[in-house]
Amino acid sequence: MFTITCALGAFQRSLISVDSPYDRFKYWGEEDALSKAAKRGEELFFVHRFECYRCHLGVMFTDNIVTSRSGQPEVGFHNTGLYDPCPASVPGLVEITGRAEDAGRFRTPSLRNVAVTAPYMHDGSIPDLRGVLAHSATAGRAPGHPMKDSMIAGFTATSAEIDDLIAFLESLTDDAFLTDPRLSDPWPEDHPARAARMMPTEPWK
Ligand code: HEC
Repeated sequence: MFTITCALGAFQRSLISVDSPYDRFKYWGEEDALSKAAKRGEELFFVHRFECYRCHLGVMFTDNIVTSRSGQPEVGFHNTGLYDPCPASVPGLVEITGRAEDAGRFRTPSLRNVAVTAPYMHDGSIPDLRGVLAHSATAGRAPGHPMKDSMIAGFTATSAEIDDLIAFLESLTDDAFLTDPRLSDPWPEDHPARAARMMPTEPWK
């Protein structure tokens, strides 16, 4: 188990995605790497009206990491008003801590490559990015949850602004990373490990 965890950790630390159009624009100085719509979307993402950056911040677009430059302690888990009451099967952070205030709190996911990982939220209950924004716009699907984070307060936006926000989220897709052969399935086509992956309903034996 020790060797397996070390090997998995080493592999995960090699998964570095910093070549999206947004990275090329923001960090590598390529002014033209980002579309006009995505640039407008970036501005919206970082303004008070939408509050996205309050939780999705820093280079990973999440507040669940602490670095030497972090300005505040790790917070990392929020109730975004998905359910009220939260289903007993997936109650959120409270399941681990037992503290009532952690009901419905889930880890803030990174938004890197988010456009290719639908469906969304911890239970995949929102089919697309437009749905996630609609969820935030109405202050959550269950806006009355007593533990809901105050940053999910709802907003009004034009459909053009929503399109721009989505263009920004799509600009976080790093195609070079996603198609890097070094990170692809290492097993040959006819290997039993592949067959197992093709049958996800098959219980592990
Ligand atoms: C209060 C903190 C907070 C704010 C503000 C916030 N988010 Fe989130 N966001 C989260 C959390 C926590 C989740 C995961 C919820 C879950 O898994 O149920 C999430 C999920 C998402 C997801 C789905 C990611 C996935 O992989 O499932 C997207 C996309 C997203 N947020 C974009 C945004 C945008 C755009 C804004 C601004 C309009 C925003 N968020 C504002 C905390 C926040």
